[in-house]
Amino acid sequence: MRALPPLLEVTGLAAGYGGGPVIAGVGFAVPPGGVVALLGANGAGRSTLLRALVGLTPVAAGEICFAGAPITRLGVAARVRRGIGYAPEGRRVFPGMNVRDTLLAASRAPRAGRRAALDRVFDLFPQLAASAGRRAWQLSGGQQQMLALGRALMGEPRLVLLDSPSLGLAPPVVADVFGAIAAIVADGVAAVIAEDRLAPVDRVADRALVLRAGRVVADTALAALSEDRLADLALGAAGASAAASTRLASPFEPG
Ligand SMILES: Nc1ncnc2c1ncn2[C@@H]1O[C@H](COP(=O)(O)OP(=O)(O)OP(=O)(O)O)[C@@H](O)[C@H]1O
Ligand SMILES: [Mg+2]
Repeated sequence: MRALPPLLEVTGLAAGYGGGPVIAGVGFAVPPGGVVALLGANGAGRSTLLRALVGLTPVAAGEICFAGAPITRLGVAARVRRGIGYAPEGRRVFPGMNVRDTLLAASRAPRAGRRAALDRVFDLFPQLAASAGRRAWQLSGGQQQMLALGRALMGEPRLVLLDSPSLGLAPPVVADVFGAIAAIVADGVAAVIAEDRLAPVDRVADRALVLRAGRVVADTALAALSEDRLADLALGAAGASAAASTRLASPFEPG
């Protein structure tokens, strides 16, 4: 069987904020419907990579191809039109805007298309449908994350870039959010999901890309990775043993 041509193909990508590049030499591919966990320690460059893919952080070198065409020099709106959705780290929903308006504002489609996209998001996330008139500040952290996911879907993407969807959420809420992500990918949408640990993503992702100091240190089947192996890769073996001895764990980690 021939492998499908990749939906997203990144080669030699370097990007940063005006100083030296924060990520460099980054290459990987995502097949149609594929789900990649983008893993690494704090400051590894995961957000920078996702921002470069959607066009928010300038690319200094390398190429991004999406659906067979280069998009490296396109702006954010053009990339979204081609089928890329993005949910930023920290959700970034407008506190005073209600759920329905937040979602509708994320679509550039004509009226009927916006309604159809909204209906699809509400079908996928009944929790959002039930809160359609509530303002974002009235939502829980988990509901705000669902709203950020829903907003990323309003352009009817073929690929979503999800930055740290579990951030700051307690484990049962993380499970809800990843249930919603599972529903998105079950629809055939490909995803790159940044997280710092394996646990939240291991049920939805099939591959893992590990960054350390802006470089890819592993691109592997997810099944080949354990939490310990990830710590070794993400921190370097010396860093991993230091982290284990000082117990740098998430605040929600059971004691
Ligand atoms: N707007 C910015 N301007 C300058 N430097 C930045 C900016 N954003 C991030 N950086 C730097 O780029 C590096 C990578 O940061 P990035 O946010 O991409 O990492 P990350 O893997 O997403 O980590 P985390 O989510 O844990 O913060 C860090 O050294 C960070 O300080
Ligand atoms: Mg980040």
